[in-house]
Amino acid sequence: MRLSALALVFSLAAACQSGETNAALVPPRPSSYESVIAPILQQRCVGCHGAERAKGGLRLHTPVAIRAGGASGASLVAGDPASSELVRRLHLPLADEEHMPPDDKPQPEPTEIAALERWIAAGAPFEGEVEGLSVPARKPQPAASIVPPADPAALARLRAELVHVQPLSAASTSLWIDFAAIAPRAQDALVTELLAALRPQVAELALARSPVGAGTLAFCATLPGLTRLDLRDTKVGDVQLARLGAHPRVEELVLARTAITDASVDQLLSLPKLRHVYLWGCALSAESVARLRARPGLAVDFGDTPDAAIAQVEDPPKFTSDLPIPDLPPAGDPNAPVNAACPVTGSPINPKYTRTFEGRVFAFCCPNCPGEFDSDPAKYAAKFPGSR
Ligand code: HEC
Repeated sequence: MRLSALALVFSLAAACQSGETNAALVPPRPSSYESVIAPILQQRCVGCHGAERAKGGLRLHTPVAIRAGGASGASLVAGDPASSELVRRLHLPLADEEHMPPDDKPQPEPTEIAALERWIAAGAPFEGEVEGLSVPARKPQPAASIVPPADPAALARLRAELVHVQPLSAASTSLWIDFAAIAPRAQDALVTELLAALRPQVAELALARSPVGAGTLAFCATLPGLTRLDLRDTKVGDVQLARLGAHPRVEELVLARTAITDASVDQLLSLPKLRHVYLWGCALSAESVARLRARPGLAVDFGDTPDAAIAQVEDPPKFTSDLPIPDLPPAGDPNAPVNAACPVTGSPINPKYTRTFEGRVFAFCCPNCPGEFDSDPAKYAAKFPGSR
């Protein structure tokens, strides 16, 4: 540790000197440290490692402080990200006590971690430009839009109920939640109860074919980060939709085959961010559709234009409720599976893989799950008590 710390100090000193020489000859350009690295450290670390606080004895707000390291020595080894304590901690699993930043704090984007590594690999210079680091870092997000990580217990609860939930992207704490697998029993009370603890995280919510109504729409109005809401094939009508109010973030609304009528046009136009609404199969007049289409930046899919079809090809809806369920026996057939979601994984079923238990047919998503089911059929069957 001591040797590498020394190496760091020397190479930093060298970098500074060459930087000063350059600065005398050419007009100064902001260094990669100033334009890329310092903003990342400022946004992600300096709250605990800065002028006011020095957790672990470490400050990261100035070159001098960064060079000084922390209680356990140098936090970075110039030229060697893999041996740098700072990089090691960024890559530790979130649950690890030494992971930085602590797991309840906003985490750096993968691109930010990559930038820190590239900078250290290039010798962690405070002057001059590092190739590939000229792009300014992402603008700091306003505090209000930083979404805290979801409560693990609430996520586990959703999964136990077979509701599909996943982050919007690898680096995102916002969630896409799809009730397709339990649509028939996704009543207002169940939906709002399951999502109550996840209000900050819900970004995309699919409730197609469920019996949701005014209660769920009123709840959706309180979801600060909701951008996409799929209500296709529900009984939602004008009265229920009105409960959504002028939601400030909703961009995409799927209302195909609902009871929406002309009376909802003003409601739809009150949504400031709305840019795509799907209304095919709704009883809307041509005038209402034209009024909606008159709004700049709003795409209205009413199933009546060729570009609607093209738009759908280009931007396929990504809800699992759209997955075709192949060759299902007709309803009422005694061989029809009682479940639409695999009892083991919650994924949509493939009717090729079935087991009969206590006179009921269960279908699975893949050839592996029937074996798992056999280990405790009563437990898995109990997830579908209402059927038959
Ligand atoms: C919410 C406060 C907080 C934030 C934000 C935070 N840290 Fe820390 N950090 C700590 C605490 C507390 C310690 C001391 C406990 C430990 O060593 O795990 C620590 C210790 C460290 C250490 C070890 C210092 C030493 O010498 O022992 C490094 C390296 C570190 N943090 C890097 C970072 C980096 C890089 C960031 C930003 C990406 C960051 N931390 C963000 C609280 C924070």
